[in-house]
Amino acid sequence: MKIVAAIIGMGIGQKHLEAIDNYKNSMVKIICEKKKNKIKELKIKYPNKIVTSDEDAIFLDKQINLVSIASYDQFHFNQILKCFKYKKNMIIEKPLCLNFNQLKKIYLLSKQNKNIKLTSNLVLRTNSLFKEFKKRINKQKIFYIEGDYIWGRKEKLFGWRSKIKEYSLTLGAGIHIIDLINWLTGLKPISVYAVGNDKITKNTSFKKNSLITMIFNFPNNILVKVSANGAAIYDHYHELKIFLENQTLVNSRMGSYVINKDRISKINANYPDKKNRKKLIQNFIDTIKIKNTKPLISLKEQIDLMTICFAVDKSVKLNKKIKIDYL
Ligand SMILES: NC(=O)c1ccc[n+]([C@@H]2O[C@H](COP(=O)([O-])OP(=O)(O)OC[C@H]3O[C@@H](n4cnc5c(N)ncnc54)[C@H](O)[C@@H]3O)[C@@H](O)[C@H]2O)c1
Repeated sequence: MKIVAAIIGMGIGQKHLEAIDNYKNSMVKIICEKKKNKIKELKIKYPNKIVTSDEDAIFLDKQINLVSIASYDQFHFNQILKCFKYKKNMIIEKPLCLNFNQLKKIYLLSKQNKNIKLTSNLVLRTNSLFKEFKKRINKQKIFYIEGDYIWGRKEKLFGWRSKIKEYSLTLGAGIHIIDLINWLTGLKPISVYAVGNDKITKNTSFKKNSLITMIFNFPNNILVKVSANGAAIYDHYHELKIFLENQTLVNSRMGSYVINKDRISKINANYPDKKNRKKLIQNFIDTIKIKNTKPLISLKEQIDLMTICFAVDKSVKLNKKIKIDYL
């Protein structure tokens, strides 16, 4: 089966294009971009592709069987609805959508359209270092995990992110770490209490919390702290500490280690390992092309992840612990 794809939005969408084009009989036929100057450049860079500002050119093209949605967050939901309507498989940048009602609708449509596949680009699952962590973890022995999404690119908050009413740093950043911890442990949280602040950004155009700290209760009496830190002066980093009964695994700006009672050893695996990120999209293409290919992330895992993120934001808003009701 030939994959004929289209991309909407050419920021991170550029990476989607590179992952799809020429991968196992796949090609990108149409690029949709809104910015005039980018359109001009794209036409020169990709003379053999259709470059348009009209997304309907994609949906009305019968050849297109995969749409990559890498537009701003507030457009994802309607573009997903169109993918269902016009029967296109879809890769959606995180977050899938911006509220729980939208999520319920997406879940319902996916159940009604089992032949249409969708995935969200949760790239930390392809990271060599975190794969190594996963191999070493005995989940019975974990008692505490700390994961910090340190954005290190504060200025990005002041662009399109500051203009979206329902934007949250949980959906924009924390989501990656929550997904990573769910995947590493094979578990999902029972409840969450979260708080946030805007101390560093309150006099800017970004009117939301630029720091959110979440405490999750996981099964097996595991406590998990996650922070989505958009305000830090730092490198862009996914810091992680996994505390097991007999050892601790660490990925930090200072390096990656396994700490035992009387020995600290460096873990030799790639981080941030950007070259492997395209594997998530390529695995998704395999699930479309090759029957019984196991997806790196299942539909239910994606729905559950979004449910968790909405519970976090509800907890911040209500300032109380929230039990997470999975769909
Ligand atoms: N998975 C990840 O690690 C990751 C990383 C970065 C961004 N993202 C997500 O990707 C999406 C885009 O973010 P970005 O960092 O690429 O932003 P960006 O501003 O760098 O680029 C977005 C581009 O898409 C275009 N665009 C936006 N909406 C469009 C629409 N409806 N139709 C056509 N073009 C449109 C814009 O003009 C812009 O050129 C967001 O949802 C973001 O959360 C995910």
